[in-house]
Amino acid sequence: MLRKLIVNTALAATLALSSGVAFAAGGERYVENYAFAHEGPFGRFDQTQLQRGLQVYTQVCAACHGLRYVPLRTLSDEGGPGLSEDEVRAYIEQNYIEVYDAELQDWRAATPNDHFPGSAMSNAPDLSLMTKARAGFTGPYGLALNPLFKGMGGSEYVASLLTHYTGSEKEEFGAILYGNETYGGYFAMSPPLWDGAVEYGDGTEATVEQMALDVASFLTWTAEPKLMARKQMGFTAILMLGLLAVMLYLTNKRIWAPVKSRAKGYPAE
Ligand code: HEC
Repeated sequence: MLRKLIVNTALAATLALSSGVAFAAGGERYVENYAFAHEGPFGRFDQTQLQRGLQVYTQVCAACHGLRYVPLRTLSDEGGPGLSEDEVRAYIEQNYIEVYDAELQDWRAATPNDHFPGSAMSNAPDLSLMTKARAGFTGPYGLALNPLFKGMGGSEYVASLLTHYTGSEKEEFGAILYGNETYGGYFAMSPPLWDGAVEYGDGTEATVEQMALDVASFLTWTAEPKLMARKQMGFTAILMLGLLAVMLYLTNKRIWAPVKSRAKGYPAE
């Protein structure tokens, strides 16, 4: 019985795997399957990468985009970029972050309890939840096998979007649109990164790909700040359920043991 179950499961897994590989190609949007530190059941955010991503976001993306669902104080939360409370205050001061205070009916300097400002440009979407709003991997044929093996790919989508401009532009209704393989056509964001667009404090070379990966990782954190706690909890739950399963199996065996031995003694007529 148990052997049959194992064989069946193995068979199903091989089938699923091979079809996943076979259908992986295709689709008009190209998304590179980058390896991120936070992926997989034991994935954890790379804290220095989150800090670099925050820098890229602040110095490049924030010119147009916002993060209005993210409280500034969470920059010092566990599992995040891990700034100290003083560093959060310094970050606010150095970047002149201001918020509109409805009570004062005026702008004032932000405090750690305020959120990041919203988008500065009306057609630039808020990025707080962007890595959850985009799927890098779908299908094939609605079977969701690609997401099963590669993940939903929101982080990959963002990193890929920043690195896969085709270089072609066109004008539509007076606006310039930029070709992008990941977007799957033309859209209104000009290529925001170039080599050396920021200067990293930790000596990492700021290539376009490096900055794209760093900011994508940071935006994954803004969209899912409790990712690490969730994975840890999941692991503990699986462990406990596994233990429970073993105990239930043994209990079951024991409860039915007298009945089984009786059945052996008196074969069914
Ligand atoms: C000059 C302004 C500007 C800058 C700088 C900028 N963006 Fe954008 N971004 C836009 C605009 C405008 C759009 C909407 C484009 C559209 O939908 O046609 C956009 C769209 C996006 C989208 C959504 C694409 C989609 O699938 O709909 C993402 C993700 C994004 N930007 C990420 C970033 C990141 C990360 C950075 C920093 C590295 C950045 N942007 C810098 C203006 C900007």
